[in-house]
Amino acid sequence: SNPLNINHSGHLTIGGIDTTELAKKYGTPLFIYDVEHIRKNARAFVDTFKKYQVKAQVAYASKAFSSVAMVQVAKQENLSLDVVSQGELYTALKAGFPTEKIHFHGNNKNYDELLMAVNQEIGCIVIDNFHEIELLSTILSDQNKKMDVLIRVTPGIEAHTHDYILTGNEDSKFGFDLSNGQATRAMEQLHTHPYINLKGIHCHIGSQIFETEGFIMAIERVFGTLAEWKDSHAFTCEILNLGGGFGIKYTQEDEPLPLEKYVEALIEEVTKQVNLHDMDFPEIWIEPGRSIVGDTAITLYTIGSTKEIPNVRKYVAVDGGMTDNLRPALYQAKYEAVIANKANEEEVENVSIAGKCCESGDMLIWDIALPKVQPNDILAVFSTGAYGYSMSNHYNRFPKAAVVFVENGKDRLVIKRESYQDVVQNDLSYEEE
Ligand code: LLP
Repeated sequence: SNPLNINHSGHLTIGGIDTTELAKKYGTPLFIYDVEHIRKNARAFVDTFKKYQVKAQVAYASKAFSSVAMVQVAKQENLSLDVVSQGELYTALKAGFPTEKIHFHGNNKNYDELLMAVNQEIGCIVIDNFHEIELLSTILSDQNKKMDVLIRVTPGIEAHTHDYILTGNEDSKFGFDLSNGQATRAMEQLHTHPYINLKGIHCHIGSQIFETEGFIMAIERVFGTLAEWKDSHAFTCEILNLGGGFGIKYTQEDEPLPLEKYVEALIEEVTKQVNLHDMDFPEIWIEPGRSIVGDTAITLYTIGSTKEIPNVRKYVAVDGGMTDNLRPALYQAKYEAVIANKANEEEVENVSIAGKCCESGDMLIWDIALPKVQPNDILAVFSTGAYGYSMSNHYNRFPKAAVVFVENGKDRLVIKRESYQDVVQNDLSYEEE
């Protein structure tokens, strides 16, 4: 997925712009998003639903990368927005996102978060647990307001990149179990609720999924339950939210499907199930995060020190690491990279890319073939658009990186690099002034 774009100087480009120029202009570590690519990913989902004339909402899962500029791009592409916290909701409001297209998730939404969602009259709350039903009921009756909700169920299918675990009694912190009657009990509470409109059901089976099989299994199970509810409670499912999780290419080994194919598989299976159970076709919602932004960004780093252990390994250290990309340390996630200022040069050595945090596990890439590296070379790591900046942290008191959007041959800073003043801004003195 990373067909290298290289200019006449042999430098890597993104959105037509020389990455080494961007490194000079904004410093490193630097996230750079190709906005046209974000739009292309978003449209792949939206247009496929349109093509099959299926009423749908494509909600960008903003946990993958939330910022005012990103939420504005989602708005421009007519996406809906999945938020999982008051911080993400606040960001959406700051970005002027239409509140009726915001969906609120989370396994432990608190009173303040739910109150904000109700006051802002957001589109939908995805109900996760019984405690939340109580909190929301109190808030709605106090405010004398109504709220549309979906009920989140765990269909007992957990999809990993290549395989699926079927669990009769799903061991998950999210949602209501289908297997032990919890989901039905929740449905009964919501179905007849004076302030809550239960519009349908939600399930999410995992992330970075390459095949359609897990989604199909989940749809089958969910429809089994919907068929029961139809018979027992005359419940009609107006909205079926199938979550996110569509995989992307990080390395040559990853083989995701084109995004259209996931949507087609969902539509096909839902069609099959509604016919089987003699139901009306529901509106379909999905919540892609990674597949909208993941492969649209790169991170630039400046190379500093190297350490060679003869016959073992050469460590090449960069000026970021687990503070801007936690995924390798946390999940052993794999990435590919090039030297941006030597993008045409032959790969001559095998090295490992180390971060600069005080922790041995702070490695970005183990074993990668690169041209001969020197201090001040610029390393470009691919496919860092999802869960990179959004999981960045202040370990070792590193200021957070900057984020730049490029589009139409122009670059624009969308998140400022933090200063050291930012790093200590909430610290208070323990000495007499
Ligand atoms: N909907 C729900 C309910 C979710 O829990 C998630 C992701 C999504 C949608 C979006 O999934 P996506 O399309 O991005 O796969 N930090 C991890 C990923 C955590 C995903 C959590 N939930 C990572 O870096 O791989």
